[in-house]
Amino acid sequence: MDKPKVFVTRPFPIEAITLLENTAEVSVWMEETPPPPDVLLREAVRAEGILSMLTDKIDADLMEAAANLRVISNNAVGVDNIDVAAATARGIAVGNTPGVLTETTADLAFALLLAVARRIVQADGFLRACGWRAWSPTLFLGQDVSGATIGIVGMGRIGRAMARRACGFSMPILYTNPRPVPEVEDEFGARRVKLGELLRKSDFVTIHAPLTSETRRLIGRAEFELMKPTGILINTARGPIVDQDALYVALKTRRIAGAGLDVFENEPVDCDDPLLALDNVVVVPHIGSATVATRTKMAYMAVENVIAGLNDEPLPYPVNAVQAPEPTA
Ligand code: DGY
Repeated sequence: MDKPKVFVTRPFPIEAITLLENTAEVSVWMEETPPPPDVLLREAVRAEGILSMLTDKIDADLMEAAANLRVISNNAVGVDNIDVAAATARGIAVGNTPGVLTETTADLAFALLLAVARRIVQADGFLRACGWRAWSPTLFLGQDVSGATIGIVGMGRIGRAMARRACGFSMPILYTNPRPVPEVEDEFGARRVKLGELLRKSDFVTIHAPLTSETRRLIGRAEFELMKPTGILINTARGPIVDQDALYVALKTRRIAGAGLDVFENEPVDCDDPLLALDNVVVVPHIGSATVATRTKMAYMAVENVIAGLNDEPLPYPVNAVQAPEPTA
């Protein structure tokens, strides 16, 4: 019997591909950039499984054309690139890679927070450019992190991991979340507040919410107006949660003091984007989960999801609930 076909949309760890090849005929897009839409469509049409990245748009039209598709496994925890409702309606199982990237992403968010507060990237550039003449009492004055108030927007797994780190720095914690999270209130004294209060009172605002219709452009001009002029915004979640033009203006006019960004409205961010010319922003190219150990674990989870989907078994890391097909007589 022919093996089911699976399209993997980017070069992937060879051990994970080898595991997948026990079950499937695997075709891998070998470029570092995403497959163009026509290639994605062509491959999807012949596939029963797609192992996608967060940059691949898997929408209802694509699913409509891909009549044999049974499983979409996203190599990410965020699934905003997939029309999950459309997949569920068609009985296509969708999986993701939750949990393993929590600490890794929180590490990066906290690293950005420290880097912006203490002007590390600026100071590094200054020294390398031979600008350092003498120790000075006013050289690269930054902001204290210890004891400052942190506002965590979205208290899911990564938000909670941020709260743990903030607690180690004796930071009072405010948070927003659709539901109260008693464990962070009990353990870290975190206080759930409305977004306006969080923005007004926090020294650092860090976003850890998924991108949904409710969170798209959650932080824009009006929200920057509420932040302290010394406030710093960190975003390692999804770029479109922040209105990037409004962020640029807020940073340029020093309405807020700084930002640390791992994610952008459009990725990759244009090299000529005026945001990149500002000295009060630290930017990295969507590397929140990018450690060897975490990316390896994610690859295996993504493959396990595909294999289960092809076997009509429940996915180990499911995003939606789909009915198993009726056994054929
Ligand atoms: C995710 O998984 O959603 C991150 O943005 C990338 O690892």
